[in-house]
Amino acid sequence: MDAYCKVWGVKTGEIHSLIYGHFIEHLGRCVYGGIFDPGSPLADARGFRRDVLEAVKKIKCPVLRWPGGNFASAYHWENGVGPVEKRPQLINYVWGGLESNHFGTDEFIEYCRALGTEPYLTVSLGTATLDEALNWLEYCNLDTPTRYALLRKQYGHPEPYRVKYWGIGNEVYGPWQVGHCSASEYAEKLRQYAMFMKAVDPSIKVIAVGADNPEWDLTVLKHAGKLIDYISIHQYHGSPDYYETVAAAYYVEERLQLLAHLIRSVNLPQVKIAFDEWNVWYQVSAEKEGEEKRIVLLEEPYALKDALFAAGIFCILHRMSDVVGMANLAQMVNALGMIKTTPQKMVLTPLYDVFDLFVNHTGRVRLGLEMTTDYYAIKAKSFVDGRFHFELDRVPYFDASATYDPEKKTVSLALVNFYRDEKLELAVDLRDIAVEREARLFTLSHQDVLALNDFENPDSVRARETSLSLEGPSFALTLPPHSLSVLEIPVTKVW
Ligand code: AHR
Ligand code: AHR
Repeated sequence: MDAYCKVWGVKTGEIHSLIYGHFIEHLGRCVYGGIFDPGSPLADARGFRRDVLEAVKKIKCPVLRWPGGNFASAYHWENGVGPVEKRPQLINYVWGGLESNHFGTDEFIEYCRALGTEPYLTVSLGTATLDEALNWLEYCNLDTPTRYALLRKQYGHPEPYRVKYWGIGNEVYGPWQVGHCSASEYAEKLRQYAMFMKAVDPSIKVIAVGADNPEWDLTVLKHAGKLIDYISIHQYHGSPDYYETVAAAYYVEERLQLLAHLIRSVNLPQVKIAFDEWNVWYQVSAEKEGEEKRIVLLEEPYALKDALFAAGIFCILHRMSDVVGMANLAQMVNALGMIKTTPQKMVLTPLYDVFDLFVNHTGRVRLGLEMTTDYYAIKAKSFVDGRFHFELDRVPYFDASATYDPEKKTVSLALVNFYRDEKLELAVDLRDIAVEREARLFTLSHQDVLALNDFENPDSVRARETSLSLEGPSFALTLPPHSLSVLEIPVTKVW
């Protein structure tokens, strides 16, 4: 099989680093036992798992969403601040189990500071009120001599946290959500929350709940569009089947394109898409019995095929960088987690390597890219019970992104060969870009698309680095079957 890609030394867009964001929720072992585990020999003085913290630091998490997800809709932030021993233990009726409230706003902000990431808080539109949202914002962001700003100081945090990103509700379009409501009910709540929250702190960015449903999204955009900065979309797909999984990235691209079209149709160019939950999710029997109660864990076994879905998503987000301003993998640890932990060990799934390669070895300046590939048609289902179907008539066997990093002076090509069984002979033409001879080539591949990393074999699927000598700006490259390659080329002149 063959393909070509031609790269032009012209800037065609900026890629926002917030697309490499993450999400943690009080769900199963994500927060408790995943990132926060006081008492564990692997935890630091703050209770943060050091191994997880270091791993996430390496992929430079730019923005972290918390406390949910569905959990956010039943969350009352005041239960999670102040002396730990006084915080109430409650029932987590959203996902099962108990909620100690030991990880609350101050711990979350501390975690973000430790990572160097922007916090993103989701306010509850379920059981909480507008007052509570405004008080939370005051607690986090203000320096006024008022009750909640003073409370933060009293609890030992003199400086405001300046939380920039605020989500107004989560998935309230769905009957599974605490606070489920109609589009028009949501649009009016959103308008009020955004208006009064921006009155308290005009510098915040507001993220609205989008539903991946044109009627809902248009109602929200028309009613409250001038007050919001982002509209969200969530997408989970996946199947035990290889092509059904990787093709789903291109179904996601269609959905993102549709939302981008709706935003343009109402002439709101300042509103960006926050793709703030995305991942592979296909198991249905994802629940385990707790001691007495059902506890949902959602621990998916992420394999190489799932990492290639993620690589497809990043090529798409690079292409759509003008409209997609943020994205958050759902989720970071254990629950739908890119990272898995036991009390003693940590494993990085192949999804982690995709973040590592894109975050650390591609640039933020998008270059002109022209490519050819063959396509296939697919009728696919997501989830093992096939609860969701999609049909696509043009899914690419090859996808790519070309970027430039002005600081490192490197041009990067991210190259995904989606052929399950065939290698791809790629002809690369970097036109007038002046390349240096020695390039770094990172490859994520394995003979088995279903290979994964587990606690016995934690590094079965790992990106490997080799070096590649280039003859000049035109060269041939062989991409292994079902693989992601990132070629990082030092350059002396791009334009
Ligand atoms: O990420 C798991 C759940 O999926 C989130 O809580 C919810 O927002 C979505 O339905
Ligand atoms: O994407 C919606 C999710 O699908 C809900 O959070 C979950 O309950 C359902 O399985």
